Amino acid sequence: MKTIDWENLGFGYSKADYNVRSWYRNGQWGALEISESENITLHIGATALHYGQEAFEGIKAYRGKDGKIRVFRMDENAKRMQHSAHGTMMAEVPTPLFIEAVKKVVKLNEAFVPPFESGASLYIRPLLVGTGAQIGVRPSDEYLFAIIVMPVGPYFKEGFKPTDLVIYREYDRAAPLGMGKYKVGGNYAASMVPGHRAHQEGFSAVLYLDAKEKKYIDECGPANFFAIKGNSYITPKSESILQSITNMSLRQLALDMGMKVEERRIPVEELSEFDEVGACGTAAVISPIKRIYDADNDSEYCYGTEPGNVCVNLYEKLRGIQYGLEPDPYNWTTLIE
Ligand SMILES: Cc1ncc(COP(=O)(O)O)c(C=O)c1O
Repeated sequence: MKTIDWENLGFGYSKADYNVRSWYRNGQWGALEISESENITLHIGATALHYGQEAFEGIKAYRGKDGKIRVFRMDENAKRMQHSAHGTMMAEVPTPLFIEAVKKVVKLNEAFVPPFESGASLYIRPLLVGTGAQIGVRPSDEYLFAIIVMPVGPYFKEGFKPTDLVIYREYDRAAPLGMGKYKVGGNYAASMVPGHRAHQEGFSAVLYLDAKEKKYIDECGPANFFAIKGNSYITPKSESILQSITNMSLRQLALDMGMKVEERRIPVEELSEFDEVGACGTAAVISPIKRIYDADNDSEYCYGTEPGNVCVNLYEKLRGIQYGLEPDPYNWTTLIE
């Protein structure tokens, strides 16, 4: 294992030893290449640069108490990247190539997978890029699929301590292209202004409302939203949010815990009726929320400064599976051997 200050890692880029790459040319994907370089050479007319014809994913690998390395639900990331590719007219990366690439890049960089209980994990970032030149708005005929990895700590600096969100009605999650449901680069750039403003004003992230009516909860900048009311796990149903794999997993775990799961529109006013609320995602894990400030109405919704019981139970169950401490009845994890 590398000598790294694992406990104090933030969520940021650092160089690992290797990345993997495959090129799509003449209608087919080439063999996986291993690279030690942090750079790619890109045509100045590449569609990724001009039209944001690019998609990415986020996955994590965890080192368990047993020393084994597990990757969580990467087949779902493969499917979602295919969905993003379809929505942006890119060549889809077949699931077997995607899985082979993840396994290979994690194995090659296994010395960067943080130790058990360090609070850190290995972040895996697959990238699909339109590399061919186009000057009309048309898809590229060449693509690069690459994966980089790096050890990371918590996305929200509070970790599992409750944090604060803010609602601003002037920004839309789906701006500017109505592509919130795909994980594409250009879409995230449009969320940087509101995200930066939220940080400046002391919040962890923005909680976006639906773009059309500004009446219903969509999701947080980097994570989905869920709430607990009595025995129900409630999460937004919306066309413009990312289909979070963590949220999908929590819905299953909530059902297994005997809870009712509701996927439906959530009016902003209902925020006053929830017992617990949280943000969830690969990077955010579960971040309990202690306060949501509605900046347009100068009002706030508060949920207590300690994580609620349901958040704690869901968090422990999810982490238990990811770290191999609990049975994995749905085969969500893949061992890297
Ligand atoms: C906008 C957005 N929503 C939700 C999520 C959570 O998705 P997942 O649980 O698949 O990581 C992410 C994660 O990257 C995200 O970027």
